[in-house]
Amino acid sequence: YQATIDDSDISKGTYQYYMLKEIDEQPAVLRRLTQAYINDDGEFNFDSKLIEGLKAADRLYIVAAGTSYHAGLVGKPIFEKLAKKPVEVELASEFGYNMPLLSEKPFFIYLSQSGETADSRQVLVKTNALGYPSLTITNAPGSTLSREADFTLLLHAGPEIAVASTKAYTAQITVEVILAQALAAAEGLENNFDVKHELGLAANAIQTIVDSKDKMADLAKTYFAKTRNAFYIGRGVDYCTSLEAALKLKEVSYIQAEGFAAGELKHGTISLIEDGTPVAAIITDPATASHTRGNIQEVEARGAKTLRIASEALAQDGDQIVLPKLSTVVIPIVSIVPAQLLAYYATLQRGYNVDQPRNLAKSVTVE
Ligand code: G6P
Repeated sequence: YQATIDDSDISKGTYQYYMLKEIDEQPAVLRRLTQAYINDDGEFNFDSKLIEGLKAADRLYIVAAGTSYHAGLVGKPIFEKLAKKPVEVELASEFGYNMPLLSEKPFFIYLSQSGETADSRQVLVKTNALGYPSLTITNAPGSTLSREADFTLLLHAGPEIAVASTKAYTAQITVEVILAQALAAAEGLENNFDVKHELGLAANAIQTIVDSKDKMADLAKTYFAKTRNAFYIGRGVDYCTSLEAALKLKEVSYIQAEGFAAGELKHGTISLIEDGTPVAAIITDPATASHTRGNIQEVEARGAKTLRIASEALAQDGDQIVLPKLSTVVIPIVSIVPAQLLAYYATLQRGYNVDQPRNLAKSVTVE
Protein backbone atom coordinates (compact mmCIF):
# COMPACT_ATOMS: atom_id res chain seq x y z
CA TYR A 1 0.00 0.00 0.00
CA GLN A 2 1.34 3.42 -0.94
CA ALA A 3 -0.17 6.56 0.53
CA THR A 4 0.11 9.32 -2.02
CA ILE A 5 0.96 12.72 -0.72
CA ASP A 6 0.49 15.62 -3.08
CA ASP A 7 0.99 19.35 -2.68
CA SER A 8 -2.51 19.82 -1.26
CA ASP A 9 -1.41 17.95 1.87
CA ILE A 10 0.96 20.69 2.90
CA SER A 11 -1.05 23.69 1.82
CA LYS A 12 -3.73 25.16 4.04
CA GLY A 13 -6.12 25.54 1.13
CA THR A 14 -9.07 27.57 2.32
CA TYR A 15 -8.30 26.95 5.98
CA GLN A 16 -7.06 29.71 8.23
CA TYR A 17 -5.08 27.22 10.32
CA TYR A 18 -3.62 23.75 9.82
CA MET A 19 -5.14 22.48 13.06
CA LEU A 20 -8.70 22.69 11.73
CA LYS A 21 -7.70 21.20 8.39
CA GLU A 22 -6.08 18.29 10.20
CA ILE A 23 -9.10 17.76 12.47
CA ASP A 24 -11.28 17.66 9.35
CA GLU A 25 -9.04 15.09 7.66
CA GLN A 26 -9.64 12.46 10.34
CA PRO A 27 -12.49 10.54 8.65
CA ALA A 28 -10.35 10.22 5.51
CA VAL A 29 -7.35 9.03 7.55
CA LEU A 30 -9.45 6.33 9.21
CA ARG A 31 -10.65 5.09 5.82
CA ARG A 32 -7.11 5.16 4.42
CA LEU A 33 -5.81 3.10 7.35
CA THR A 34 -8.60 0.56 7.02
CA GLN A 35 -7.67 0.15 3.35
CA ALA A 36 -3.97 -0.03 4.10
CA TYR A 37 -4.17 -2.71 6.77
CA ILE A 38 -7.27 -4.77 5.91
CA ASN A 39 -7.83 -6.16 2.43
CA ASP A 40 -11.15 -6.60 0.63
CA ASP A 41 -11.55 -10.11 1.98
CA GLY A 42 -11.19 -8.84 5.51
CA GLU A 43 -7.69 -10.25 5.89
CA PHE A 44 -5.04 -8.28 7.72
CA ASN A 45 -2.15 -6.85 5.84
CA PHE A 46 0.70 -7.05 8.36
CA ASP A 47 4.14 -8.64 8.14
CA SER A 48 3.66 -12.18 9.46
CA LYS A 49 6.92 -11.85 11.41
CA LEU A 50 5.48 -8.87 13.27
CA ILE A 51 2.38 -10.84 14.23
CA GLU A 52 4.51 -13.83 15.26
CA GLY A 53 6.64 -11.53 17.40
CA LEU A 54 3.58 -10.07 19.13
CA LYS A 55 2.16 -13.56 19.65
CA ALA A 56 5.36 -14.77 21.25
CA ALA A 57 5.43 -11.87 23.71
CA ASP A 58 4.01 -12.26 27.19
CA ARG A 59 3.58 -8.50 27.56
CA LEU A 60 3.57 -5.45 25.31
CA TYR A 61 5.31 -2.28 26.48
CA ILE A 62 4.06 0.85 24.77
CA VAL A 63 6.58 3.70 25.09
CA ALA A 64 5.76 7.25 24.01
CA ALA A 65 5.59 10.95 24.90
CA GLY A 66 2.92 13.66 24.90
CA THR A 67 -0.16 12.98 22.83
CA SER A 68 1.32 9.69 21.61
CA TYR A 69 1.54 8.55 25.24
CA HIS A 70 -2.18 9.19 25.56
CA ALA A 71 -2.80 7.11 22.44
CA GLY A 72 -0.85 4.38 24.22
CA LEU A 73 -3.02 4.65 27.33
CA VAL A 74 -6.12 4.27 25.16
CA GLY A 75 -4.49 1.34 23.34
CA LYS A 76 -3.91 -0.72 26.48
CA PRO A 77 -7.54 -1.75 27.06
CA ILE A 78 -7.94 -2.29 23.32
CA PHE A 79 -5.12 -4.89 23.18
CA GLU A 80 -6.23 -6.40 26.46
CA LYS A 81 -9.90 -6.63 25.47
CA LEU A 82 -9.50 -7.83 21.88
CA ALA A 83 -6.28 -9.86 21.98
CA LYS A 84 -6.06 -10.72 25.70
CA LYS A 85 -2.47 -9.50 25.72
CA PRO A 86 -1.26 -7.65 28.83
CA VAL A 87 0.05 -4.15 28.12
CA GLU A 88 2.07 -1.60 30.06
CA VAL A 89 2.21 2.00 28.88
CA GLU A 90 5.27 4.04 29.75
CA LEU A 91 6.37 7.65 29.46
CA ALA A 92 9.58 7.55 27.45
CA SER A 93 11.29 10.23 29.56
CA GLU A 94 10.71 8.18 32.73
CA PHE A 95 11.08 4.65 31.50
CA GLY A 96 14.57 4.85 30.05
CA TYR A 97 16.15 5.80 33.35
CA ASN A 98 13.87 3.90 35.71
CA MET A 99 13.32 0.68 33.87
CA PRO A 100 11.02 -1.56 35.90
CA LEU A 101 11.45 -5.28 36.18
CA LEU A 102 10.39 -6.48 32.74
CA SER A 103 8.38 -9.57 31.91
CA GLU A 104 10.18 -12.58 30.47
CA LYS A 105 9.27 -11.94 26.85
CA PRO A 106 8.58 -8.24 26.35
CA PHE A 107 7.74 -6.65 23.01
CA PHE A 108 8.22 -2.90 22.69
CA ILE A 109 5.90 -0.65 20.74
CA TYR A 110 7.08 2.91 20.13
CA LEU A 111 4.31 5.36 19.29
CA SER A 112 5.63 8.54 17.72
CA GLN A 113 4.05 10.86 15.18
CA SER A 114 7.43 12.28 14.14
CA GLY A 115 9.54 9.20 14.76
CA GLU A 116 12.21 11.56 16.08
CA THR A 117 11.41 12.13 19.75
CA ALA A 118 14.68 11.85 21.65
CA ASP A 119 13.04 10.56 24.84
CA SER A 120 11.53 7.63 22.96
CA ARG A 121 14.70 6.97 21.03
CA GLN A 122 16.86 6.63 24.13
CA VAL A 123 14.56 3.83 25.30
CA LEU A 124 14.71 2.12 21.91
CA VAL A 125 18.51 2.22 21.99
CA LYS A 126 18.39 0.46 25.37
CA THR A 127 15.81 -2.17 24.43
CA ASN A 128 17.72 -2.87 21.21
CA ALA A 129 20.89 -3.39 23.24
CA LEU A 130 18.96 -5.85 25.42
CA GLY A 131 17.83 -7.66 22.27
CA TYR A 132 14.09 -7.09 22.66
CA PRO A 133 11.83 -6.98 19.59
CA SER A 134 10.31 -3.64 18.66
CA LEU A 135 7.74 -1.94 16.48
CA THR A 136 7.51 1.77 15.71
CA ILE A 137 4.12 3.20 14.80
CA THR A 138 4.83 6.54 13.15
CA ASN A 139 3.68 9.05 10.60
CA ALA A 140 7.20 9.54 9.25
CA PRO A 141 8.63 6.87 6.96
CA GLY A 142 12.40 6.70 7.25
CA SER A 143 12.44 8.45 10.63
CA THR A 144 14.99 7.51 13.27
CA LEU A 145 12.61 5.39 15.36
CA SER A 146 11.40 3.66 12.23
CA ARG A 147 14.92 2.83 11.03
CA GLU A 148 16.07 1.56 14.41
CA ALA A 149 13.10 -0.67 15.27
CA ASP A 150 12.55 -4.17 13.87
CA PHE A 151 9.17 -3.26 12.37
CA THR A 152 7.33 -0.11 11.29
CA LEU A 153 3.66 0.63 10.77
CA LEU A 154 2.82 3.93 9.16
CA LEU A 155 -0.02 6.18 10.26
CA HIS A 156 -0.78 7.31 6.69
CA ALA A 157 -2.15 10.56 8.14
CA GLY A 158 -0.37 12.88 5.70
CA PRO A 159 1.86 15.65 7.06
CA GLU A 160 0.72 16.98 10.42
CA ILE A 161 1.88 20.56 10.62
CA ALA A 162 -0.02 22.14 13.54
CA VAL A 163 1.99 21.66 16.72
CA ALA A 164 -1.03 20.20 18.53
CA SER A 165 -1.44 16.63 17.33
CA THR A 166 -4.94 15.64 16.21
CA LYS A 167 -5.12 13.33 13.21
CA ALA A 168 -1.95 11.46 14.22
CA TYR A 169 -3.55 10.68 17.59
CA THR A 170 -6.73 9.19 16.14
CA ALA A 171 -4.62 7.39 13.52
CA GLN A 172 -2.48 5.85 16.27
CA ILE A 173 -5.54 4.50 18.07
CA THR A 174 -6.92 3.21 14.76
CA VAL A 175 -3.71 1.29 14.04
CA GLU A 176 -3.81 -0.12 17.57
CA VAL A 177 -7.37 -1.32 17.02
CA ILE A 178 -6.53 -3.04 13.73
CA LEU A 179 -3.31 -4.54 15.06
CA ALA A 180 -5.04 -5.81 18.22
CA GLN A 181 -7.71 -7.49 16.13
CA ALA A 182 -5.10 -9.02 13.81
CA LEU A 183 -3.34 -10.38 16.88
CA ALA A 184 -6.64 -11.75 18.21
CA ALA A 185 -7.20 -13.52 14.88
CA ALA A 186 -3.68 -14.95 14.89
CA GLU A 187 -4.21 -16.20 18.44
CA GLY A 188 -7.44 -17.89 17.32
CA LEU A 189 -9.48 -15.78 19.72
CA GLU A 190 -13.16 -15.36 18.98
CA ASN A 191 -14.69 -11.97 19.52
CA ASN A 192 -17.66 -10.36 17.84
CA PHE A 193 -15.80 -7.24 16.84
CA ASP A 194 -16.15 -6.43 13.13
CA VAL A 195 -13.18 -4.11 12.82
CA LYS A 196 -13.78 -2.88 9.27
CA HIS A 197 -17.42 -2.11 9.89
CA GLU A 198 -16.74 -0.42 13.23
CA LEU A 199 -14.01 1.80 11.80
CA GLY A 200 -16.38 2.82 9.00
CA LEU A 201 -18.93 3.83 11.63
CA ALA A 202 -16.24 5.72 13.55
CA ALA A 203 -15.24 7.64 10.41
CA ASN A 204 -18.88 8.60 9.81
CA ALA A 205 -19.28 9.61 13.45
CA ILE A 206 -16.23 11.90 13.26
CA GLN A 207 -17.70 13.42 10.11
CA THR A 208 -20.91 14.22 11.97
CA ILE A 209 -18.93 15.95 14.72
CA VAL A 210 -16.70 17.99 12.42
CA ASP A 211 -19.85 19.05 10.56
CA SER A 212 -21.14 20.66 13.76
CA LYS A 213 -18.43 23.33 13.97
CA ASP A 214 -20.81 26.22 14.75
CA LYS A 215 -22.11 24.38 17.76
CA MET A 216 -18.56 23.58 18.96
CA ALA A 217 -17.58 27.24 18.55
CA ASP A 218 -20.61 28.28 20.63
CA LEU A 219 -19.78 25.76 23.36
CA ALA A 220 -16.15 26.89 23.37
CA LYS A 221 -17.35 30.44 23.88
CA THR A 222 -19.67 29.49 26.73
CA TYR A 223 -17.19 27.29 28.59
CA PHE A 224 -13.64 28.20 27.70
CA ALA A 225 -13.36 31.68 26.13
CA LYS A 226 -12.88 33.47 29.45
CA THR A 227 -11.85 30.92 32.07
CA ARG A 228 -8.39 30.59 33.67
CA ASN A 229 -8.76 26.89 34.44
CA ALA A 230 -10.83 23.89 33.43
CA PHE A 231 -11.20 20.16 34.01
CA TYR A 232 -11.96 17.14 31.90
CA ILE A 233 -13.15 14.10 33.83
CA GLY A 234 -13.95 10.51 32.95
CA ARG A 235 -13.42 6.92 34.05
CA GLY A 236 -11.57 4.08 32.35
CA VAL A 237 -10.87 4.87 28.73
CA ASP A 238 -12.79 8.14 29.17
CA TYR A 239 -10.19 9.10 31.76
CA CYS A 240 -7.43 8.51 29.18
CA THR A 241 -9.38 10.63 26.69
CA SER A 242 -9.75 13.29 29.39
CA LEU A 243 -5.98 13.49 29.72
CA GLU A 244 -5.63 14.10 25.98
CA ALA A 245 -8.60 16.50 25.91
CA ALA A 246 -7.04 18.58 28.69
CA LEU A 247 -3.63 18.54 26.96
CA LYS A 248 -5.22 19.78 23.72
CA LEU A 249 -6.96 22.59 25.55
CA LYS A 250 -3.97 23.72 27.62
CA GLU A 251 -1.31 23.53 24.93
CA VAL A 252 -3.05 25.85 22.50
CA SER A 253 -5.38 28.04 24.62
CA TYR A 254 -3.11 28.41 27.71
CA ILE A 255 -6.02 27.59 29.97
CA GLN A 256 -4.75 25.60 32.94
CA ALA A 257 -6.60 22.40 32.11
CA GLU A 258 -6.40 19.13 33.97
CA GLY A 259 -7.62 15.69 32.98
CA PHE A 260 -8.82 13.73 35.97
CA ALA A 261 -10.18 10.34 36.92
CA ALA A 262 -13.76 11.29 37.78
CA GLY A 263 -13.83 9.24 40.98
CA GLU A 264 -10.54 10.63 42.24
CA LEU A 265 -11.61 14.27 42.12
CA LYS A 266 -13.24 14.12 45.54
CA HIS A 267 -9.96 13.02 47.13
CA GLY A 268 -8.45 16.48 46.98
CA THR A 269 -8.78 18.21 43.66
CA ILE A 270 -12.46 19.07 44.10
CA SER A 271 -11.25 21.87 46.40
CA LEU A 272 -10.33 23.75 43.20
CA ILE A 273 -13.93 23.87 41.99
CA GLU A 274 -15.40 27.35 42.35
CA ASP A 275 -18.45 29.10 41.06
CA GLY A 276 -18.29 28.85 37.27
CA THR A 277 -15.30 26.46 36.95
CA PRO A 278 -15.81 24.57 33.69
CA VAL A 279 -15.82 20.78 34.07
CA ALA A 280 -16.25 18.71 30.93
CA ALA A 281 -17.19 15.06 31.48
CA ILE A 282 -16.76 12.25 28.97
CA ILE A 283 -19.24 9.40 29.35
CA THR A 284 -18.99 6.48 26.94
CA ASP A 285 -18.60 3.45 29.18
CA PRO A 286 -21.84 1.81 30.37
CA ALA A 287 -20.03 0.23 33.33
CA THR A 288 -19.10 3.56 34.87
CA ALA A 289 -21.60 6.06 33.44
CA SER A 290 -23.78 6.28 36.55
CA HIS A 291 -20.77 6.87 38.76
CA THR A 292 -19.47 9.63 36.51
CA ARG A 293 -22.97 11.17 36.57
CA GLY A 294 -22.67 11.15 40.36
CA ASN A 295 -19.34 12.99 40.11
CA ILE A 296 -20.95 15.55 37.80
CA GLN A 297 -23.54 16.26 40.48
CA GLU A 298 -20.81 16.63 43.09
CA VAL A 299 -19.00 19.31 41.11
CA GLU A 300 -22.24 21.06 40.13
CA ALA A 301 -23.16 21.28 43.80
CA ARG A 302 -19.87 23.22 44.27
CA GLY A 303 -20.68 25.64 41.47
CA ALA A 304 -19.06 23.97 38.43
CA LYS A 305 -20.41 24.64 34.99
CA THR A 306 -20.53 21.18 33.42
CA LEU A 307 -20.31 20.20 29.78
CA ARG A 308 -21.32 16.61 29.15
CA ILE A 309 -19.97 14.63 26.19
CA ALA A 310 -21.92 11.36 26.19
CA SER A 311 -22.38 8.46 23.82
CA GLU A 312 -25.86 8.09 22.39
CA ALA A 313 -26.68 5.02 24.47
CA LEU A 314 -25.81 6.85 27.71
CA ALA A 315 -26.97 10.37 26.90
CA GLN A 316 -29.43 12.21 29.11
CA ASP A 317 -31.57 15.28 28.55
CA GLY A 318 -29.45 18.40 28.56
CA ASP A 319 -26.17 16.73 27.57
CA GLN A 320 -24.52 19.24 25.25
CA ILE A 321 -22.63 16.83 23.00
CA VAL A 322 -24.00 13.42 22.03
CA LEU A 323 -21.70 11.01 20.19
CA PRO A 324 -23.19 8.68 17.55
CA LYS A 325 -23.72 5.04 18.50
CA LEU A 326 -20.45 3.03 18.39
CA SER A 327 -18.77 0.06 20.01
CA THR A 328 -16.75 0.87 23.12
CA VAL A 329 -13.58 -0.29 21.29
CA VAL A 330 -13.65 2.49 18.70
CA ILE A 331 -15.42 5.20 20.67
CA PRO A 332 -12.18 6.79 22.00
CA ILE A 333 -11.24 7.55 18.37
CA VAL A 334 -14.38 9.69 18.22
CA SER A 335 -14.85 11.07 21.74
CA ILE A 336 -11.65 13.16 21.49
CA VAL A 337 -12.84 15.04 18.40
CA PRO A 338 -15.24 17.44 20.19
CA ALA A 339 -12.40 18.29 22.58
CA GLN A 340 -10.06 19.02 19.66
CA LEU A 341 -12.63 21.41 18.20
CA LEU A 342 -13.36 23.04 21.56
CA ALA A 343 -9.62 23.65 22.05
CA TYR A 344 -9.35 25.08 18.55
CA TYR A 345 -12.23 27.53 18.89
CA ALA A 346 -11.39 28.57 22.45
CA THR A 347 -7.89 29.48 21.26
CA LEU A 348 -9.19 31.59 18.40
CA GLN A 349 -11.64 33.30 20.75
CA ARG A 350 -8.78 34.07 23.15
CA GLY A 351 -6.79 35.55 20.29
CA TYR A 352 -3.85 33.16 19.93
CA ASN A 353 -2.13 31.47 17.00
CA VAL A 354 -3.48 27.94 17.31
CA ASP A 355 -0.89 26.34 15.02
CA GLN A 356 2.15 27.65 16.88
CA PRO A 357 1.66 27.77 20.63
CA ARG A 358 4.39 29.46 22.62
CA ASN A 359 7.27 27.36 24.00
CA LEU A 360 6.32 24.22 22.03
CA ALA A 361 7.95 22.38 19.17
CA LYS A 362 6.37 19.86 16.85
CA SER A 363 9.18 17.42 17.32
CA VAL A 364 11.42 17.38 20.39
CA THR A 365 14.87 16.00 19.66
CA VAL A 366 16.47 16.72 23.04
CA GLU A 367 16.01 14.62 26.19
C1 G6P B 1 6.02 17.18 21.12
C2 G6P B 1 4.76 17.63 20.41
C3 G6P B 1 3.56 16.82 20.88
C4 G6P B 1 3.84 15.33 20.71
C5 G6P B 1 5.12 14.93 21.44
C6 G6P B 1 5.53 13.51 21.07
O1 G6P B 1 5.98 17.56 22.45
O2 G6P B 1 4.53 19.01 20.63
O3 G6P B 1 2.42 17.17 20.13
O4 G6P B 1 2.76 14.59 21.19
O5 G6P B 1 6.20 15.76 21.04
O6 G6P B 1 5.85 13.50 19.72
P1 G6P B 1 5.90 12.23 18.79
O7 G6P B 1 6.37 12.75 17.46
O8 G6P B 1 6.91 11.30 19.41
O9 G6P B 1 4.56 11.64 18.74
